[in-house]
Amino acid sequence: MMLVSRRSGAIRWKRLAGIFALLGTMAAGACAPPDQDGTTGTRPDGVSPLFQPLPESAEHPEDNPGTPEKIDLGHKLFFEPKLSRSGIISCNTCHVVGAGGVDAREVAIGEGARTGPRNSPTVYNAAFLAAQFWDGRAETLEEQAKGPIQAHVEMDLTPEEAIERLRVVGYEPLFAEAFPGEEDPLTFDNIAKAIAAFERTLITPGSAFDRYLEGDLDALTPKQKEGLEIFQNAGCISCHNGALLGGQGYAAFSHVEGSEDVGRAAVTGREEDRYVFRIAPLRNVALTAPYFHDGSAATLHEAVSIMGWVQLKRRFTPEEVDAVVAYLESLTGEFPMVTHPQLPRTLPPAPTVTE
Ligand code: HEC
Ligand code: HEC
Repeated sequence: MMLVSRRSGAIRWKRLAGIFALLGTMAAGACAPPDQDGTTGTRPDGVSPLFQPLPESAEHPEDNPGTPEKIDLGHKLFFEPKLSRSGIISCNTCHVVGAGGVDAREVAIGEGARTGPRNSPTVYNAAFLAAQFWDGRAETLEEQAKGPIQAHVEMDLTPEEAIERLRVVGYEPLFAEAFPGEEDPLTFDNIAKAIAAFERTLITPGSAFDRYLEGDLDALTPKQKEGLEIFQNAGCISCHNGALLGGQGYAAFSHVEGSEDVGRAAVTGREEDRYVFRIAPLRNVALTAPYFHDGSAATLHEAVSIMGWVQLKRRFTPEEVDAVVAYLESLTGEFPMVTHPQLPRTLPPAPTVTE
């Protein structure tokens, strides 16, 4: 896993970014005429090739193919409050798919109204992350999904309890359809697999920035273009790049003094990973306030201004912050229509009457 340290790494990246930018401009060549949708298919001059458009869809891994039956089951499980001890908390409680995939709280609130130490990140486009969680401790969506169901502060069930609850309300036939040929399809592994398959459909392509990358020069406002320039020139792009503008590497972030959350050091056990966190992905970031792993920045303006100072030793003017925020708003994509599914609810058998 790539680790970008605060100084040396950032500088290395900046130099690379410069080289790529140069190559990119050379490759772009003369302007092509625009298509009917206003795009030319050519990246506008001066836009770094370190940015990638968000793919239209996510690939399902070979060991967990995304069949319609499985995605449908995962969709139900994502909304299933039976997967929590109280029976009222589902994945959608903290990752509200109709509201950017977040709960808009500083830190999440789960079973028994207990709070965890961290802010709920969005589930949208999580399929493209190199690793899950603020500290990257789960490699895949399959591995991730098993966490919250068991976490004391989230849904608080044992795998056996989760399986039994789903069996009682009538999920067995749905698991049989989603995992054909398996002798005992209702397992904890398969719960996680179905949820992960559903999450791979939560993709938001078609943002203004994606259209701009494809050559639609009018997709960004002049202020957004200004913000993009600051984002590139100030060095934000040295960490926030690729299709998600983050989500692939790690960097030190310790603006909250004396925080007990040591970040990645708790995963790797390495002293040098103290206060190192995953470089946050910035897709749809305008919809996911509050910001940072501890929810300590209430607004995007605050987050941008802190990032400028903490990561780059730049004191942005209010106008500069405004422009960067405007640019970040162009990263809001088109959200899929996610219905609230009907959940299986088998009535318990009637008591047998003995005469
Ligand atoms: C009580 C609130 C809560 C519930 C319920 C919950 N989550 Fe989360 N989720 C969080 C928090 C908080 C994090 C970040 C934790 C961390 O980084 O340590 C997170 C992280 C994630 C991530 C990683 C995203 C990223 O950017 O790294 C995914 C994916 C996810 N949750 C999916 C789910 C699924 C699927 C369920 C249901 C099985 C679920 N969550 C239930 C609060 C919740
Ligand atoms: C050295 C790498 C690095 C640089 C440079 C950097 N960031 Fe970040 N950024 C991070 C990390 C790491 C996080 C996650 C922080 C955390 O765990 O709370 C983050 C988080 C963010 C967030 C909050 C996202 C969220 O969902 O909470 C925003 C917004 C952001 N960065 C914008 C910027 C901007 C704008 C710049 C340039 C001024 C910038 N970053 C420069 C590494 C960097």
